[in-house]
Amino acid sequence: MAGQQAQGMAAQAGQLAGRHIVMGVTGSIAAYKAVEVVSRLRKLGAEVHVIMTRAAREFVTEMTFREISGQPVAGDMWAPVHAFQVEHIALAKLADLVLVAPATAHVLAKAAHGLADDMLSTTLLATRAPVFFAPAMNTNMYENVATQENLQTLRKRGCHIIEPDSGHLACGTSGKGRLPEPAAIVAEVVRYFTQSQALAGRKVLVTAAGTREPIDPVRFLGNRSTGRMGFAVAAEAARRGAEVTLIAGPTSLRAPAGVRRIDVETAQEMRAAVLAAYDAADIVIKTAAVADYRPATVAEHKIKKSEGELTLTLVRNPDILYELGQKKIRQVLVGFAAETRDVAAYARAKLAKKNLDFIVANNVAESDAGFGAETNRVTIYGADGSEERYPLLSKDEVAAHILDKAQSRLSR
Ligand SMILES: Cc1cc2nc3c(=O)[nH]c(=O)nc-3n(C[C@H](O)[C@H](O)[C@H](O)COP(=O)(O)O)c2cc1C
Repeated sequence: MAGQQAQGMAAQAGQLAGRHIVMGVTGSIAAYKAVEVVSRLRKLGAEVHVIMTRAAREFVTEMTFREISGQPVAGDMWAPVHAFQVEHIALAKLADLVLVAPATAHVLAKAAHGLADDMLSTTLLATRAPVFFAPAMNTNMYENVATQENLQTLRKRGCHIIEPDSGHLACGTSGKGRLPEPAAIVAEVVRYFTQSQALAGRKVLVTAAGTREPIDPVRFLGNRSTGRMGFAVAAEAARRGAEVTLIAGPTSLRAPAGVRRIDVETAQEMRAAVLAAYDAADIVIKTAAVADYRPATVAEHKIKKSEGELTLTLVRNPDILYELGQKKIRQVLVGFAAETRDVAAYARAKLAKKNLDFIVANNVAESDAGFGAETNRVTIYGADGSEERYPLLSKDEVAAHILDKAQSRLSR
């Protein structure tokens, strides 16, 4: 899906000028397609350094990649070093992006477990550059729990996974596991770099984590939100060049680099901070789980236990998102719907009632999505009637999709 989206963006000459891309080629029958990937990356101006695994050399010759990339091909960690680029750590440092295409089940497993027994796996472990994997394999290998868990591990660590296509496979079967077309893979890389300053000059306001509503000096009403989703959105917006204000309820997370953080505790404090920043904002993404109710009174001293029941009276907190929807002039307003049932119906109703541009809905009853999880499985509903369903993704990937949507709305 991500590949299809990216394909919609036309690649332009020079778009990757000055970029150093390290391309890992592994032992898949689809290795021949990597030749075209390298060729396309070079045509867009990138300097491409290919690392081949031993198995990859069974499929395509080193000479082909050397000629197409115009660079020596790395592979043997133990070979005498003739150029700095083939020293075993040098490519990891040089890379602006590492792309493994095709990525075998084997290389995914090695990367997920931190193995470093050849030039490619060592580079993957040593690099600080973003890493993209384009898996390609037989459907059963792809669907095997081991492979899926390895992909999950890699996603959680922030690696980008380019979804394989479905269709006829070289092994004679049909199913998911086919390497996407080279143009789609290259479009993902272009998209990564072109997004990098897409929000320069824009102000993005993000809210994150839950609120705490005090009962007495030591107790509060709270919820399970950890703030991970909001912090991922703030980090991604900052990476795209936006001026980011992150208004966060209590959380142990550290603010992403380059983000202005305002800490709040209660829904009322959250409201005041959000309203103060709202008018200047271009994009507002409200991931915070704001308490709907608060205790009517806060006891001055710790409430002592006594015989019998204790009744707390709760009063409604302000509906911040509704208020923002009413005040909206030019802001792109994105809300979240964390539900445990009837997700679609609740999400659509909230989208309309609160005058949002998008609502990101997820079922928080699922263990691998929502509160506290590293991953999320969301559907994004648009005010224009659009509905986009995403597979299980890391929260960083979900953040990128949300910002893609908000950005495209902004440019309209
Ligand atoms: C003809 C042939 C085709 C293969 N195609 C694939 C493939 O598409 N995907 C995959 O994960 N493994 C494939 N394999 C198995 C890998 O080559 C094997 O697991 C190897 O150890 C991978 O090593 P590498 O990841 O270091 O390149 C294939 C093997 C053969 C003999």
